[in-house]
Parts: sequence; C-alpha cells; structure tokens
Amino acid sequence: MDFLRKNVGYVWLLGAVVVIVLMSLGRGHDDRPLEYSPNMYYSVGYEPLKQIDRNTINPMGLNMRAPVKGTVSRRNYNTKFGTGDEAITDLMVYDIPADSMGISERTLENPVPLNDNTLKEGELLYGRYCIHCHGEKGKGDGTVAKLYKGVPVYSSDALKNLNDGHIYHTITYGKGRMWPHGSQMTPEERWKIVHWVHKLQFNP
Ligand code: HEC
Repeated sequence: MDFLRKNVGYVWLLGAVVVIVLMSLGRGHDDRPLEYSPNMYYSVGYEPLKQIDRNTINPMGLNMRAPVKGTVSRRNYNTKFGTGDEAITDLMVYDIPADSMGISERTLENPVPLNDNTLKEGELLYGRYCIHCHGEKGKGDGTVAKLYKGVPVYSSDALKNLNDGHIYHTITYGKGRMWPHGSQMTPEERWKIVHWVHKLQFNP
C-alpha cells in the first residue's frame, strides 16, 4: 500500500495506457477516427477508380461514368456500300494468327459486296498502297519493284488462283519479301483492295 501511495503518478499513467490499448483493440480495419492530412491519401478531384464518398451528381453515386454512346471504337461494325448493299457480316473480327495463311484461305470470304462503287474504291486504295510495287495492271512493274528484285505478276499461273482469304492475309501480315499493311488500312479497305486484285488476276 505504501508503495502504491508513493507512486500514485505511475499508477494513473499505467491505468491510462491500459484504457487506450483496450479502446484501440475494438476498431475495425476501415475505421478512420483520426487522420493526419487526409488530402494526402484521398484525392480531392474525382478519381475514376478510387472513391471514398458517394458522388452526388453522377448516376449510381459513382465517379466513373459510362462513355457517351458512339465514342468508343469497336472492332466490329456493319457498313453500307450503297442501296441494298449492306454487309451484315462483321468486317473487323478476325483472330487468325500471322502464321496461319491456310486458315484464312479456308475460312475467309470477302464480306464487301462487289459493285461499281466498291471496285472503284478498291482501285483507288490499290493506287495508294500497292501500285508502286505491283504496278498499275498488277504486272509487278511498279517504280519501287526494282528494289525488291522481282514482284510477282497477279495473272501468272502461280497467283491467278489466289482466293479472297489468301490475298487478305497477305495484305494484313505481308508474305515473304512483302511487308505487312494491316496497320495502315481498315479491314474494309483491305477487302475492297481484294476485289481489285481479283480483277487484275483475270483482266490484267
Ligand atoms: C514495297 C513493295 C510492295 C508493296 C507496297 C506491296 N507488295 Fe505485294 N508483294 C511484294 C513482293 C516483293 C511480293 C513477293 C513476296 C514473296 O513471295 O517473297 C509480293 C507479293 C504479293 C502477293 C502474292 C502473295 C503470294 O502468295 O505469293 C499479293 C497477293 C500481294 N503482294 C498483294 C499486295 C497488295 C494488295 C498490296 C497493297 C495493299 C501490296 N501487295 C503491296 C511487294 C509489295
């Protein structure tokens, strides 16, 4: 008793520590009773992926909003090429790997209808992307062809029977000494060029 009376200050201190420890034990991990400079951890601006409070303006209380319709480009779409010429098939979805020319040959078919418009566009695109090597009539005599030491002739026995998928695959991924062109053109443009290449195969 004497000891306690002499050290009453320490006894109070010990009691206070015990109480604080017991109080802190009851807290859940998401309690935030006291924070120092919360702005350092919680952005004042709206963050799409980190949100503490309910957003009072946006739907469902979320900071994140759905993009405006029509603003996110999609890999597939339907297109019109003129009256009565809709391509219902998705033009854009092909997951055929570069080393699988055979799959393209067997499975792909030109979804762009062949008519005067699409053929004319094919000719125009061919003029932009292919003519400098393959030549106006597909004879392999474009001005750049010399550098490639031989660009093949579309109407030759070796090439005149190449089908839709084969030509599409060649444009997309390149073949042998020909570079890939997939990143330069949409699938729709490639398919229009395929029409024009077919024309050069048969009417050089
Ligand atoms: C820079 C020159 C160059 C350009 C541009 C070019 N090609 Fe070629 N192309 C070649 C060469 C060279 C070959 C022969 C490839 C080989 O067999 O090594 C070739 C081959 C081909 C073949 C035959 C593939 C086969 O199976 O033998 C097709 C079809 C073809 N090109 C289509 C096109 C089309 C369509 C375009 C335009 C989108 C185009 N090329 C653009 C140089 C070019």
